[in-house]
Amino acid sequence: MQLQEMIEKRRSVRSYSDTPAEPEILEEVCGFLEQAKPLYPGIQTYMEIVDKEQVRFFMPWKAPQLLAIYSENKPGYLENAGFLGQQLDLFLQSLGLGTCWLGLAKLREKTCPEGMEFVILLAFGYPKGEVPLRSKEQFRRKKLSQIASEADPRLEPARLAPSSTNSQPWYFLREQEVFHAYCSTKGLLRHKGLGDMNRIDMGIALAQLYAANMGTFRFFREEYPEKKDGWEYIGSFRL
Ligand SMILES: Cc1cc2nc3c(=O)[nH]c(=O)nc-3n(C[C@H](O)[C@H](O)[C@H](O)COP(=O)(O)O)c2cc1C
Repeated sequence: MQLQEMIEKRRSVRSYSDTPAEPEILEEVCGFLEQAKPLYPGIQTYMEIVDKEQVRFFMPWKAPQLLAIYSENKPGYLENAGFLGQQLDLFLQSLGLGTCWLGLAKLREKTCPEGMEFVILLAFGYPKGEVPLRSKEQFRRKKLSQIASEADPRLEPARLAPSSTNSQPWYFLREQEVFHAYCSTKGLLRHKGLGDMNRIDMGIALAQLYAANMGTFRFFREEYPEKKDGWEYIGSFRL
């Protein structure tokens, strides 16, 4: 299945079989990560697969394996991490595996590659029971008209993106063929301590737009973006 097809079917999975993914699958995952596209090619990142024993979960469920994302701390690094991880989220779900982003879990040992910091975990594994794909109508999401200056159906992949506590902190301002992406700063206050998560969410939404427009998606930052009260400029893109 293509990554694009997963955008309208994926869901967060929170119930996993104890059986870890086979070594061949993990090899495929590593191969996929090597060719995943960064949002900011100048930011060094490192991703590794860790077992559940290496992770402190702060919720009542566990996944057998997780992807740990580390990055240099440079402007845009959280969006970049979300962008890379969401490509893997779609890929894993296309293989029949379940996934869930985990803001509320930490690595037990904080051994980071030099010059980098730990960013976030993406849990994955075989779902318990049948593969829980869903239809578009089952997504609990804001309407297109609530997240964009124009209800342009090309923004649908961003609308359907997963976000921390389903906060959907994005707004898209259209200016001819360019879209400007903004992140809610009210959301940042509302989720005290989880503030940075919203920047990861923005990268996730952009990754879904990239997955749906692989040949044409272009991301850039404007030097003098339009200011919007209560919103922070993240970047602009063409589809
Ligand atoms: C950055 C990020 C962090 C998240 N952290 C958690 C978490 O700690 N625990 C959890 O159960 N779900 C977590 N989620 C999953 C969201 O709750 C979920 O994506 C959202 O409710 C939308 O549901 P869906 O993914 O099934 O469409 C996280 C999602 C994102 C994007």
